[in-house]
Amino acid sequence: MKPVISIKEITKIYHVGEIQVHALRGVDLAVQSGEFLSIMGASGSGKSTLMNVIGCLDVPTSGSYHLDDIDVSSLSRDAYADIRNEKIGFVFQGFNLLPRTSALENVELPLFYDRRHRIKNPQHAAREALERVGLADRMHHVPSQLSGGQQQRVAIARALVNQPSILLADEPTGNLDSRTSIEVMSVFQELNGQGITVLLVTHEEDISQYTKRIVYMRDGHILRDQKIEKPVSARQDLEKKMEEADAAAL
Ligand SMILES: Nc1ncnc2c1ncn2[C@@H]1O[C@H](COP(=O)(O)OP(=O)(O)O)[C@@H](O)[C@H]1O
Ligand SMILES: [Mg+2]
Repeated sequence: MKPVISIKEITKIYHVGEIQVHALRGVDLAVQSGEFLSIMGASGSGKSTLMNVIGCLDVPTSGSYHLDDIDVSSLSRDAYADIRNEKIGFVFQGFNLLPRTSALENVELPLFYDRRHRIKNPQHAAREALERVGLADRMHHVPSQLSGGQQQRVAIARALVNQPSILLADEPTGNLDSRTSIEVMSVFQELNGQGITVLLVTHEEDISQYTKRIVYMRDGHILRDQKIEKPVSARQDLEKKMEEADAAAL
């Protein structure tokens, strides 16, 4: 089977004044459809740079990148933006929601940038995406009326509204407490179970145990690539935590 993401010998050099920063120093990575991958590594090891290349937000200095068998480097500016809009959904650590805007409108937003108007009814699509993350009853709330975990779920719904085949999440649980982090991981596990390929950056070992494969980075390289035979179920962990809380309350 052809991988959905195929990266060969990717480098990325940032120029800051006179200084060259080698953020990626020759990365090879193949990801099959339906995988759930976590990218781990110390701060500065190149995780976000790699995600931005994969997400077509940033162009590498050298190397090749094929997304769904399309040579991304060959694309025009518009085609590059289209491929990003149509195939990829992004989730960030800080949620990045518009503050005075309802959950529903936040989720609809990416559809205004969809030049090809693949999705005919933005509001319907946004409602469906919010239902998928379990927030049907919070559509008209603005971010300040939602908990951190709920805000991140709105952000996941916004990432889903274009019906992407790949979800990229850069430290999506970085601002959340441990219980809420597990809730968010259970959403990702569920979406992955529905066939979406998920790549997430984390530096928490606990979080990576919910994924199916861990890629370790150091100094712009992939150091190790490990399959998880039996990922931990976030849903089961949540149930266990609830039972423990109930027992403690007795
Ligand atoms: N836009 C940028 N301009 C200059 N240097 C950058 C930029 N983005 C990242 N870097 C540098 O590239 C290296 C890798 O950064 P990054 O990919 O953000 O690492 P991580 O996400 O693993 O913390 C770091 O040394 C960082 O300072
Ligand atoms: Mg980062």
